[in-house]
Amino acid sequence: MFPLHRNRRLRTNDAIRSLVRETTLSPTDFMFPMFVAEGKDVSIEIPSMPGIYRRSLDLTVKEVKELWNLGIKAVNIYVKVSDNLKDNTGKEAWNKDGLMQQTIRAIKDAVPGMIVMPDVALDPYSSYGHDGIVENGQILNDATVDALTRMSVSHAEAGADFVAPSDMMDGRVLAIRKALEESGFHDVGIMSYSAKYASSFYGPFRDALDSAPGFGDKKTYQMDYANRIEAIKEALHDVEEGADIVMVKPGIAYLDIVREIKDTVNVPVAVYQVSGEYAMVKAAAEKGWLDHDKIMMEQLHCIKRAGANIISTYFAKEAAKLMQ
Ligand code: PBG
Repeated sequence: MFPLHRNRRLRTNDAIRSLVRETTLSPTDFMFPMFVAEGKDVSIEIPSMPGIYRRSLDLTVKEVKELWNLGIKAVNIYVKVSDNLKDNTGKEAWNKDGLMQQTIRAIKDAVPGMIVMPDVALDPYSSYGHDGIVENGQILNDATVDALTRMSVSHAEAGADFVAPSDMMDGRVLAIRKALEESGFHDVGIMSYSAKYASSFYGPFRDALDSAPGFGDKKTYQMDYANRIEAIKEALHDVEEGADIVMVKPGIAYLDIVREIKDTVNVPVAVYQVSGEYAMVKAAAEKGWLDHDKIMMEQLHCIKRAGANIISTYFAKEAAKLMQ
């Protein structure tokens, strides 16, 4: 007798393993999230995100050129505005000379091919640190959606290729699509953060932008991590409303959701491997407990294997360098 299946034949050596490998990575799978600050020649490392910096516009543009040369074709932009520009309307978010708008223009000027996807949410502009307008301790949905449409059109005017609403208000994709069409921005796309969970993995990001909620938490708009069916509902609604790409966030702990959404919708699926996921790998590697590069590549492959067409990751640059 002999084993009916000798599956190990396909694992005998590196050559055969590479021939039968089902998932491969390329720098074009990645988007790189960037934190932009006011000023000139500013570069501040985020303490909980070693290797990731909050940079002024001049240095951001320099880094975008470097990303492009590494084969990375998209960036997600987040800005840190000073406290005196924050209020409960978010109006700085659609200031045509605001930091985000300047950043979009400068990147498109310097590297026209780079796909620029500004974040659409009020938290960096909110005196309450929430993604929406606050009234009596509640986050108002429809008033926030109005603000997000103005913000999106302003990003399009500045030259954004896609807008990326990360706020989880209801109806915002349809409202943004309608506003973009009415303003003539037929070709500006929407990448919707469709299944965005209320997650403790966002901690380091909030350090980076000083955007932690001033009261309460984000559980009345971001999703409960115990839920699965709700994620499918959110993704289907966003596709119906006109999202060109849907996103799942965070990544590694939510790959069941990624696979299910991938099998359900007919648009590309993006995954955001978020700040806390990055921080965990960095911290464990710093202690010598895990092999940094191997863990990084394993996680990125696993995210893609689960169904991601695009991965937004703070590892984009390091991984692309490793692939060269
Ligand atoms: C805010 C926003 C957050 C992230 C992206 N956009 C934080 C939050 O919702 O509180 C988190 C990304 C990360 O942790 O890397 N709209």
